Amino acid sequence: MRIGIVGAGHIGGTAAKLFARAGHRVALANSRGPTSLAPLVASLGPNVQAASPADAVTFGEAVLLAIPWRNKEQLPPSELFAGKIVIDAMNPYSALGRVMDLGESTSSEEVAKRLRGARLVKAFNTIGWKTLENGGQSSEEDQLAIFVAADDAAAKETVAALIREIGFAPVDTGSLREGGRRQQPGSRLYGRPMTSRQAEDILGKSSAKDKR
Ligand SMILES: NC(=O)c1ccc[n+]([C@@H]2O[C@H](COP(=O)([O-])OP(=O)(O)OC[C@H]3O[C@@H](n4cnc5c(N)ncnc54)[C@H](OP(=O)(O)O)[C@@H]3O)[C@@H](O)[C@H]2O)c1
Repeated sequence: MRIGIVGAGHIGGTAAKLFARAGHRVALANSRGPTSLAPLVASLGPNVQAASPADAVTFGEAVLLAIPWRNKEQLPPSELFAGKIVIDAMNPYSALGRVMDLGESTSSEEVAKRLRGARLVKAFNTIGWKTLENGGQSSEEDQLAIFVAADDAAAKETVAALIREIGFAPVDTGSLREGGRRQQPGSRLYGRPMTSRQAEDILGKSSAKDKR
């Protein structure tokens, strides 16, 4: 698959390494331009190339967003994302590191409003980058969960397949709204490495609680 990644820091750079290792071609972008990415890209091997954000989006059949959520208005024009699977790894922190109050909305719904026409999947939000870098396992029983939420079932399944390929267990949290809420900072899933069995236990309990 061709994967564009906007944001080449902890999460974007780590995902580039893992996707490239799994045999995908990756175009990686940051805010300072492709030249600034030359050393990183050279270290990641021939499957990874540096690009501008717009070129990375154009390149990708799927596009991973891994920039600060508060910078989302700086993303390339929404037309470039139309019809593409867009993986939103961003969490809504202010520049001071506080979780932003979005009222009834959730951060990925706000991204979906900005990128109308994109097939949005929320994933890679709750896992720390070091766990992502080192936590992949081949034994399914031991695999750590990476959560996925989306309204587009086919896009969600494509992202789930990518997650399996890099040694993690995709766990479905539901729709962009309800599943997205379950993945937000402060939730029981956030920032706690867990197997898919542990995750499903928590999700089962929390959905039973939701129904009460
Ligand atoms: N760190 C984690 O463990 C973790 C885990 C899950 C989710 N997340 C989420 O993932 C996102 C990235 O976090 P991170 O820790 O990877 O951040 P980071 O290490 O600070 O990297 C941020 C990257 O975004 C780029 N960037 C910023 N504004 C941009 C723009 N307008 N256009 C293109 N690129 C831009 C930066 O490029 P320059 O350096 O050139 O400015 C940098 O490559 C955040 O939303 C965070 O909440 C992080």
